[in-house]
Amino acid sequence: MIEIAKEIQTAAYLFASILFILSLGGLASQESAKRGVIYGIVGMVIAIIATVLGQGVEGHVYIIGAIAVASLIGIMVARKVEMTSMPQLVAILHSFVGMAAVLVGFGSYLDPETQTMTGAAHMIHLVEVFIGIFIGAITFTGSIVAWGKLDGKIPSKPWAFKGLQMMNIILMIACTVLGVFFCKAHGTDGMLPLLIMTGIASYIGIVLVMAIGGGDMPVVVSMLNSYSGWAASAAGFMLGNDLLIVTGALVGSSGAILSMHMCHAMNRSFFAVIFANATASSSQGGEKKAIEGEVTSLVHEEVATLLKEARSVVIVPGYGMAVAKAQYPIYEMVQTLRKAGKNVRFAIHPVAGRLPGHMNVLLAEANVPYDIVLEMDEINEDMPSTDVVMVIGANDVVNPSAQDDPASSIYGMPVIEVWKAERVIIMKRSMSAGYSGEDNPLFYKQNSEMLYGDAKVSVEKLLGFLKA
Ligand code: TAP
Repeated sequence: MIEIAKEIQTAAYLFASILFILSLGGLASQESAKRGVIYGIVGMVIAIIATVLGQGVEGHVYIIGAIAVASLIGIMVARKVEMTSMPQLVAILHSFVGMAAVLVGFGSYLDPETQTMTGAAHMIHLVEVFIGIFIGAITFTGSIVAWGKLDGKIPSKPWAFKGLQMMNIILMIACTVLGVFFCKAHGTDGMLPLLIMTGIASYIGIVLVMAIGGGDMPVVVSMLNSYSGWAASAAGFMLGNDLLIVTGALVGSSGAILSMHMCHAMNRSFFAVIFANATASSSQGGEKKAIEGEVTSLVHEEVATLLKEARSVVIVPGYGMAVAKAQYPIYEMVQTLRKAGKNVRFAIHPVAGRLPGHMNVLLAEANVPYDIVLEMDEINEDMPSTDVVMVIGANDVVNPSAQDDPASSIYGMPVIEVWKAERVIIMKRSMSAGYSGEDNPLFYKQNSEMLYGDAKVSVEKLLGFLKA
């Protein structure tokens, strides 16, 4: 009977693993994303049922009670959270995974059953505990700082000091030495080195993310996603749960691949970001270039006239479009312009907004057809032949100092070269800087004009003039 139950659990784990892989595959494109989410949900339900009903699990009443309370909180939070606050939610959820790995690590170390282990199996278990807690603690504190930065509770500017990297290396060496003491200790005598290492790892998590500038936060978020996967995988080893190992490895490796893609898209060195040396890959130091030129602005009627006269229009959306929820009137405006025979397309920067694919999701929500949504690399070469570019709530992703000011913290990041078009209209509420905190010389260029106001209100006004 026990054997059959074990085999059923193994089959359920295998099935859940396949569903998780299909889920990741589905999330790769907008058309299949919904299907991917459903695969993930079904896989997770099977995984939870198979684990809870598995051999050696006791206290089902408590477990079901905890699942019910947690599910209720999860549903309430997910229903309440705005799309613009999604990155913060993702960051704080990563911190839970890190915390879980730390708690599982300590629990597993103190578990009387593991005390009876001997030889190589015992040594492997100790290494799993040590590494699991190390990754978990970094993920926990790093994710909390990332949440604070994304939520505006902690300044997005990089916080670093001379010798930070050297200090990180020394702390890593200290953790390795503590690991040796921990593995050599008898019984639970390794608690002290384990606690000291947890403190150091928690500190490393904080400084690692504090040192990253706002512009590089996308890489950090996907990197913490990857860490949370490895932390879960380590917890899987400690608990002897194959599914947790596989799921953690899937999250860890897909997060690492996403981080590498992000680094590539932003022209950053993967290792420089991981080792909190973001500044070495971006700002070259020195004095920032003085911004020259004058800021000019137009009113809605003038912009509508410009649009009526244009043949080709490119729209560059950014975080402000998400805040204003302007995607619906924007698409209505695009339809109106296209009916008038104009070539209208969207230009999407890989890190526009606050989530990977943020703009694509919002445009898909408004039913914008995929064929007029182009990636930065596809559209940049068309900029010189574009009559009007409308920058709607975007800032850092169109900042020319990323190309021509080595002192800027976003130097080296590829941007949409809107200034090469004939006219550029920047729709935002004020002259304030973007997420990176860098001023934008684009606003001062001769062919640029500001159109102040909330993006949604402005687009609705433009629509009124275009339809009149
Ligand atoms: P930002 O540089 O953040 O600029 C957004 C602009 O939108 C602001 O300057 C703001 O100016 C304007 N805005 C805000 N609310 C508005 C409203 N209601 N109506 C009109 N405008 C509004 O955005 P971006 O260009 O999309 O760049 C994204 C930045 O976030 C990059 O630095 C990126 O590295 C970082 N980041 C991205 C991610 C991912 S994965 N996408 C994750 C974390 C961080 P006003 O206040 O003057 O209106």
